[in-house]
Amino acid sequence: MKLLVTAAQGQVGHALTTQKKDSTIEIISLPRQQLDITDPISLQSAIEQVKPDVLVNAAAYTAVDKAESDTAAAYRVNETGAENLARACKQIGISLIHISTDYVYSGEKVQPYTEDDATGPLNVYGASKLAGDRAIAAILEEHIILRTSWVFGLHGNNFVKTMLRLGKERDELRIIDDQRGGPTAAEDIAITILTLCQAIQSRKAAWGLYHYSGQPTTSWFGFATAIFNRAKAMGFDLGVSVKPIPSTDYPTPATRPKSTILDCSKLKNRYNIDQPDWRERLDAIILAECGGQK
Ligand SMILES: NC(=O)c1ccc[n+]([C@@H]2O[C@H](COP(=O)([O-])OP(=O)(O)OC[C@H]3O[C@@H](n4cnc5c(N)ncnc54)[C@H](OP(=O)(O)O)[C@@H]3O)[C@@H](O)[C@H]2O)c1
Repeated sequence: MKLLVTAAQGQVGHALTTQKKDSTIEIISLPRQQLDITDPISLQSAIEQVKPDVLVNAAAYTAVDKAESDTAAAYRVNETGAENLARACKQIGISLIHISTDYVYSGEKVQPYTEDDATGPLNVYGASKLAGDRAIAAILEEHIILRTSWVFGLHGNNFVKTMLRLGKERDELRIIDDQRGGPTAAEDIAITILTLCQAIQSRKAAWGLYHYSGQPTTSWFGFATAIFNRAKAMGFDLGVSVKPIPSTDYPTPATRPKSTILDCSKLKNRYNIDQPDWRERLDAIILAECGGQK
């Protein structure tokens, strides 16, 4: 089976590109310069060249705050791009695995969100991703949309790297404690996507919408504290003190949902995929970011 992966240089795209080779799955990932999902001609030429069995879309406009003022660009990638991919897959009869976000929900539900819960994005990024999810579901039956949250990985920019950088520069950090979610390692998303591909390959796929996030659930403050505690345990004591603050003390252009805990039992029931423990993915990043200083 051949996979064509978009956004080879994104966190998830890169994690997929660096997965150990599986003799039955060949992964070809292309950067934006070679496959622009907003450009149907670029898309068609990549598909003709690679001739994939499954298309995996890891590309997105992910700048949550910038999207508030750059709305057309966010929709161009997250809605029109997703629509282009679904149409291309339908035309040649292949399936699409697409990644979406917890920010499609309003965050007012205290209990975990299931795939059947009503959406209600609070910001342009979430609304544009939701529009993409809907476009795919309307065009292509053979799709899997994986809604995930708080993604971090070795490659690219993310909260873990930002904390480690700021922790080296400052004595104190004030971190939001009233937004809750599940940090998810890009590496684990990549492994899950390969498991889904194996199911597609053996014709055991159950199409549709799924939630996938790491556990345990935490706040950004809890996430930051875990990062610094783990760094200290590994011998990198950054000596920074972390203080919890409410969201109102850190205004941003985009409003974020308060609680987007994802119920991932549908993925477990249909594909036997467990929620990974995100804490186990911290060491590699801490080592990469702090390894030169003890
Ligand atoms: N990051 C998170 O915390 C988070 C949370 C929940 C869900 N997600 C979802 O998870 C998926 C992967 O996110 P990520 O964290 O890996 O994102 P990322 O690191 O920001 O990577 C996004 C990638 O998409 C590429 N891209 C943007 N526009 C494109 C286009 N028109 N054609 C092709 N490629 C394009 C970007 O390329 P350039 O850099 O060249 O622009 C970049 O490589 C996305 O669907 C995102 O919505 C992410």
